[in-house]
Amino acid sequence: MHIKYAEFVISNTDPAKCPAPDKAEYAFIGRSNVGKSSLINALVSRKNLAKTSSTPGKTQLINHFIVNQEWYLVDLPGYGFAKKAKTDRRKWASFIEEYILKRENLMCLFVLIDSRLPLQLIDGEFIDWLGEHQIPFCIVYTKADKLGKTKIQQNIAQIEKELLKTWEVLPQRFLTSSETGMGKEELLQFIEDCNTKFV
Ligand code: GTP
Ligand code: MG
Repeated sequence: MHIKYAEFVISNTDPAKCPAPDKAEYAFIGRSNVGKSSLINALVSRKNLAKTSSTPGKTQLINHFIVNQEWYLVDLPGYGFAKKAKTDRRKWASFIEEYILKRENLMCLFVLIDSRLPLQLIDGEFIDWLGEHQIPFCIVYTKADKLGKTKIQQNIAQIEKELLKTWEVLPQRFLTSSETGMGKEELLQFIEDCNTKFV
């Protein structure tokens, strides 16, 4: 898919104030610092459309971006950022949960997992929660440029073995790097296919 246009639309903490659900939408979630905002920028070939930082906790709001005037990308705050105050964590849980559970045009939630680490408890729990609520999702492994190919493949095999203890089949997976652009075309192709199913 050719990206002709990508623009910021709105940020908010209230799912009711998100744009009208009249276009296909794809949201990015995962632990803080896993690379959600960077991957959004890589997908649309824009350096600073979504704000990134080496310090976890950069993205705090539900951020909508419109692409080709046809579909939405959504950058969400990360989970598992322990330094936040408790009240903040509860607020995260409620507005993001509400967004995920109620957003009717959400075609797929991309759950980002660091390709270098063992499956983190919080990722496993989050994925199980998506299953309980039948939220359509894909797994996107990030930062594939940071380790050798063999190490990454071994690590992913380990992550998937762990997931298969609770899941009978796994959803679609993508291996990506925002640095090299690996996986970008595959993700855009997936989005293009989903767009045709939006009614
Ligand atoms: P929060 O908004 O805090 O939840 O984080 P995030 O998931 O949006 O992460 P972000 O995109 O801000 O990236 C976090 C850090 O990881 C930044 O320093 C990025 O430059 C780096 N990073 C992200 N993706 C990649 C990647 O594919 N390769 C490499 N080498 N670094 C990456
Ligand atoms: Mg971010």
